[in-house]
Amino acid sequence: HVARFTLDPAFTVGEVNPRLFGSFVEHLGRCVYTGVFEPGHPSADEAGLRTDVLDLVRELGVTAIRYPGGNFVSGYRWEDSVGPVEDRPRRLDLAWRSTETNRFGLSEFMAFLKKVGPEAEPMMAVNLGTRGVAEALELQEYANHPGGTALSDLRVAHGDKEPFGIRLWCLGNEMDGPWQTGHKTAEEYGRLAAETARAMRQMDPGLELVACGSSSQAMPTFAAWEAKVLEETYDLVDHISLHAYYEEKDGDRDSFLASAVDMESFIENVVATCDHIGARLKSKKKINLSFDEWNVWYQSRFEAEAAENPLDWPEAPRLLEDSYSVTDAVVFGSLLIALLRHADRVTVACLAQLVNVIAPIMTEPGGPAWRQTTFHPFAQAARHGRGEVLDVRVDSPTYRTAVHGDVPLLQATAVRDPRTGAVTVFAVNRSQDRPLPLRVALGGMDLGEIVEHTVLSDADPDARNTLDEPDRVTPHPGEGAVLAGSALSVTLEPLSWTMIRLA
Ligand code: AHR
Repeated sequence: HVARFTLDPAFTVGEVNPRLFGSFVEHLGRCVYTGVFEPGHPSADEAGLRTDVLDLVRELGVTAIRYPGGNFVSGYRWEDSVGPVEDRPRRLDLAWRSTETNRFGLSEFMAFLKKVGPEAEPMMAVNLGTRGVAEALELQEYANHPGGTALSDLRVAHGDKEPFGIRLWCLGNEMDGPWQTGHKTAEEYGRLAAETARAMRQMDPGLELVACGSSSQAMPTFAAWEAKVLEETYDLVDHISLHAYYEEKDGDRDSFLASAVDMESFIENVVATCDHIGARLKSKKKINLSFDEWNVWYQSRFEAEAAENPLDWPEAPRLLEDSYSVTDAVVFGSLLIALLRHADRVTVACLAQLVNVIAPIMTEPGGPAWRQTTFHPFAQAARHGRGEVLDVRVDSPTYRTAVHGDVPLLQATAVRDPRTGAVTVFAVNRSQDRPLPLRVALGGMDLGEIVEHTVLSDADPDARNTLDEPDRVTPHPGEGAVLAGSALSVTLEPLSWTMIRLA
């Protein structure tokens, strides 16, 4: 039973937008405090940013970083987060039953991005839960207007002479979710998003705006929500958001390993909904997809803990600190492949989140920072998954799952660098116990060398990286790949993520 596909540079899906490798910093748990920001930590710079974390964020290769939430944004008062730190108020954060000190705010976030590097870009969310058009405009003026008005001059007085130049904005967060502070119906949200977008564009027509889609494909309002919101906002926004988290439920690992089936159908259903509204409006414009929260998240565990033990407003508690296994990393890799396979329409994606909170990077307060298993597929894809995604039609043996029916054992994509012709193949073998032989026909491409072949797998599918053993799981060199007669042959290890670079 061999899995196969053919690569041909004449057949492409589309170009990978660098924003596909975005991430997310929310004021939640220890993502900010003792995550990216820890004054007094041995590695902290003059601004209190942890340089050990900054080094890992650069190595991870993230681009757009969404901020400051998530659920947090629906109670966010941007003005609390700027100006002299000693004057900033402490506030209740209703979303996570925590206390927000505001020691880290907008200016600190922008300074963090600058240190991450030239590809790092803010993706700023406005509060459409407890607030509306006026506050969004105030934040925009404070952040982006050069000077000579009350709020832009306030920014200058606060020490940020240059405007932040934020292009990409989210119009609220998960407004379809009953858990959201200020939750709305599609009609209510659609109108508010439209009016906020219209006003923000009056200040700057060049902004890129993201309307809230559904919090998952399983939401009861899914698709009807997108349709209504887009009827109101179609001409005013550029993207609609998608969020999805996956976890192993009831020990059903086979279904968990097929999570990307749900992610791909979610993407395709949202594309269909966008295009349906576009057709009804007789519009030539296409709405793109911002998959601005995705990951493996053991959410049911978190919800059970939160119900049993509601937090009593602590500062930066340990929240959502999932520790990821090899199995989680393989599923995670298949989700990355799903995003790349839809690079024509998914033009923004944010791995939720960046540090400590369901994150590829973990830290100990006062102690070290380390890479989770999921760090590795992301870093490899962010580095080598650049260029044009080739149209990969997988012919693969299948296996049976309780949730997703018959699913191909192989999940794969390939990205070609149009400048050099080099091709990188990313592949996941979903089988828990069987190697999967793979043959890739390389039609019409002059590829003579396997430059790199690495595999993430382990004899123990539950192995993970921890404070005590931070490099227990890392990619290892793959074996036995052969490039001959215009074809690549390789056997994928059971339960594995593989990257093969050809030049
Ligand atoms: O990423 C964690 C939370 O998941 C976010 O705050 C929210 O938007 C989503 O439900």
